[in-house]
Amino acid sequence: MALQDFIAELDSLAGEAQDAFTGAADRDALEAARVEFLGAKAGRLKAVQKGMGKVDKTDKPAAGQKLNSVKKAIEQAFEQATGRLAQSGGKAAQDSFDVTLPGVPVRVGRLHPITQTIERMKEIMGRLGFSAVEGPEIEDDWHNFEALNIPLSHPARDPLDNFYLSVASANAAGGSPPPQPSPKGGGSSKPLLLRSQTSTVQIRVMEQVLANTVASGAQPPVRIVSLGRVYRPDTADATHYPMFHQIEGLLVDKGVTMADLKSVLRMFCQSYYQRDGDDAEDVHIRFRPSFFPFTEPSVEVDINWQGGWMEIGGAGMVDPNVLRAVGYDPEEVTGFAFGMGVERIAMRQHNITDIRDLYTNDVRFLAQF
Ligand code: PHE
Repeated sequence: MALQDFIAELDSLAGEAQDAFTGAADRDALEAARVEFLGAKAGRLKAVQKGMGKVDKTDKPAAGQKLNSVKKAIEQAFEQATGRLAQSGGKAAQDSFDVTLPGVPVRVGRLHPITQTIERMKEIMGRLGFSAVEGPEIEDDWHNFEALNIPLSHPARDPLDNFYLSVASANAAGGSPPPQPSPKGGGSSKPLLLRSQTSTVQIRVMEQVLANTVASGAQPPVRIVSLGRVYRPDTADATHYPMFHQIEGLLVDKGVTMADLKSVLRMFCQSYYQRDGDDAEDVHIRFRPSFFPFTEPSVEVDINWQGGWMEIGGAGMVDPNVLRAVGYDPEEVTGFAFGMGVERIAMRQHNITDIRDLYTNDVRFLAQF
């Protein structure tokens, strides 16, 4: 582009801007003119400025100088117009206050969809007689593994599959400490980790209930849910995240059977989705045979979604070894336990197809729930 053309373009832009600013009758009109000419993204000055790239190299300094002076002139014209409007209208505007104007709406916060889901789950399980308890997110390997019938040789204890805390082990020479067997109430070097499952709370609760009632010698009934975060070194994708939430349920009493487990889970799922206008009849769950070290028999729990089945968790009858580990008599009592993904259940509810959306904290996304 020839230097002359570039200059001519700038001059005519300066003229137009000047006219627009002096002609602006009120603040809104002035602001519109400012955006048109000086707008940082799509302003016309910006557009002309882009033409600089096409000016011959030798003419660049001259073109740059001209650009600067025109820019200054346009900005000055804008300042003047601002001053003019402030003088004419500013005083009157300050003196009068229109009390009939609608107020500025306040943006009201709300609970995160996961928190909403957790609250709703507690409420439903509460109606079924389960009280909500909490457990720590930093766990020892007795509660995360050992008492849950997961021996040292089990692959679930691999350091690569867990977030071990290196501070936890006095004898760990940097990096993750290798898993070590730790007797109940173990020594000072017992490894700690971010819990990989909420099943830890099963153990904590059973130990506690037993301790509280041991004087009476009773085999106490237990009926709890625990909701909270768990951690696994998974790569984040549409259905995985290194941190997610689980709802754990545990019922131990005389004569508890698999039929109780299935009824409770079906009732839970139907109640959960019913409020959203879903017909309760449309919510189905199914059990698939599976394996967990701490339940026998074990099942995976699926829920119907989008014409197929989505896995929402695992469940089963509490393994006698687990009952024994916490001092219960498996001849006296039986129990069921389940652990389900809170995110999965919320995703089905809101038709969210990418779990990461729940954690990017984009207010436009969160404001929908
Ligand atoms: N803790 C298991 C998991 O995280 C789920 C589970 C809980 C299975 C309770 C059976 C009983 O995969």
